[in-house]
Amino acid sequence: MLLYVNGCLRDESRTKRLADLWLERRTYEGEVCRVDLARLDVDPLDAVGPNPLGAYSKAVRTASYEHPMFRFATQFAQADEVLIAAPFWNYSLPAKLHAYLELVCSQGVTFDIDETGAYVSLCHIGRLTYVTTAGGAQVDPLDDHAFGYVRTLAERFWHIDDVRCVAAWGLDGPSANVDQLLLEAAEQ
Ligand SMILES: Cc1cc2nc3c(=O)[nH]c(=O)nc-3n(C[C@H](O)[C@H](O)[C@H](O)COP(=O)(O)O)c2cc1C
Repeated sequence: MLLYVNGCLRDESRTKRLADLWLERRTYEGEVCRVDLARLDVDPLDAVGPNPLGAYSKAVRTASYEHPMFRFATQFAQADEVLIAAPFWNYSLPAKLHAYLELVCSQGVTFDIDETGAYVSLCHIGRLTYVTTAGGAQVDPLDDHAFGYVRTLAERFWHIDDVRCVAAWGLDGPSANVDQLLLEAAEQ
C-alpha cells in the first residue's frame, strides 16, 4: 500500500499539484491510501484534550493501542511506500503535519526501543518521498527543517533506506513560471 499523506492546506495548492504529477509518473501497482490532513482533526499530544499524554504513555506501557490517537500510526505501519506532500512554511512544515507525524511516531506501533536502547523499526517502508514547494529560493540544507526533520524520522525510527525530496523552489517570485517549475521538479 502506498500511503499518500497530503499536508497541503490550500484548495489551489501547488505542492498538491506537484505531488499528483509525481504520482502520475510513478508506476505503483498496489493500492493508494490517501490521508488529507486539511479535512481531518489532527490534535497534538497534550496535557489535556483529545490526545492526552497520560493515555499515550499508559498505552505504550501496556501495549494496548485501541485509542483513536494511534489510528495514523497503525495505518502508517501497514504502508510499503509513503508520499508526503506539504508546503515549505517558516523554514519548516505546517504544524498540522507536525502533529500528524508526532502521532505516527508512536512507540510500539511504528518503532520500538530494544534492550540496548536502539530504535527498532516496526515498519516495512521501502521508500519515502517528501514533496514540497517554496515561495523563495532553495535554502541551505541546514536551514531546511522540513525535509531534514522528516528524513531523520524516516532513517532513525523507521529505517527507510530510500528517502528522497522532490522540491520546487522560487514559486512566489514576480517572474516565476510556476507550471514550468512544477514540471521540472516532477521530472527529478
Ligand atoms: C504560513 C506560510 C509560511 C511560509 N514560509 C515560507 C518560508 O519560510 N520560505 C519560503 O520560501 N516560502 C514560504 N512560504 C511560501 C510558500 O512556501 C509557497 O507559497 C508555497 O508554494 C505554498 O505552497 P501551496 O501552494 O502548496 O500552498 C510560506 C507561506 C505561508 C502561507
